[in-house]
Amino acid sequence: MTSTLDSAPIAPLIADLYAKADASHLHVKSGATPLGDRDASVQERADAAEDRYLPIDPGTGRLLYSLIRAARPETVVEFGTSYGISTLHLAAAVRDNGIGHIYTTEANAKKIASARATFAQAGVDDIITVLEGDALRTLTAVTDPIGFVLLDGWKDLYLPLIKLLEPQLIPGALVAADNADSSGARDYLDRVRDSANGYTSFNFPAKERDSMELSSRN
Ligand SMILES: C[S@@+](CC[C@H](N)C(=O)[O-])C[C@H]1O[C@@H](n2cnc3c(N)ncnc32)[C@H](O)[C@@H]1O
Repeated sequence: MTSTLDSAPIAPLIADLYAKADASHLHVKSGATPLGDRDASVQERADAAEDRYLPIDPGTGRLLYSLIRAARPETVVEFGTSYGISTLHLAAAVRDNGIGHIYTTEANAKKIASARATFAQAGVDDIITVLEGDALRTLTAVTDPIGFVLLDGWKDLYLPLIKLLEPQLIPGALVAADNADSSGARDYLDRVRDSANGYTSFNFPAKERDSMELSSRN
């Protein structure tokens, strides 16, 4: 039987979004705040990247799908929805599992509206809650035990976000952090790579000249 990930309507929607992402790759708003400018607010940085998709690799998406199929988490949290490419991979897995709900977070209004429309078109809006605004604030509303986390927003927020979510991570919960080679993620890596902090962590190449950190909660 073909997976939801490889079937219509999700497969053609993902292909279309990747084509748009390729076209958006070089697009930077004139006068925009650089994405790495840590003096700018979350909102300024999110709005500066409004027209950029910045998606996970297709291969990473398929890995995330497989991990969620295997782990069967009841609650999935995503930091950084953008236009919803990664979320569609998570949602395909949750749909095929027959259990689970996704909370995904995004601060840019144009991306939120577009992602919501995509999720409805994909027929997965019933299993996705889009939390609007700064994830450090919106994720305080998620009180369920969490079985899977994808970190893919601004990298300097990985550490405060995982600290926020830690009390709800169930034993065996998986935390996938994209762009682990980014300098902003350094303090996050220090935390998950120190076994005294309750993680077993592994790094592998993902994307050209970058990597993903996969950590399980002990
Ligand atoms: C790398 S993109 C996410 C790409 C998406 N995961 C995918 O694969 O399609 C990062 C996104 O995180 C959002 N973001 C960054 N910091 C945020 C925050 N504190 N709260 C909510 N969204 C945030 C940005 O606006 C941006 O759209």
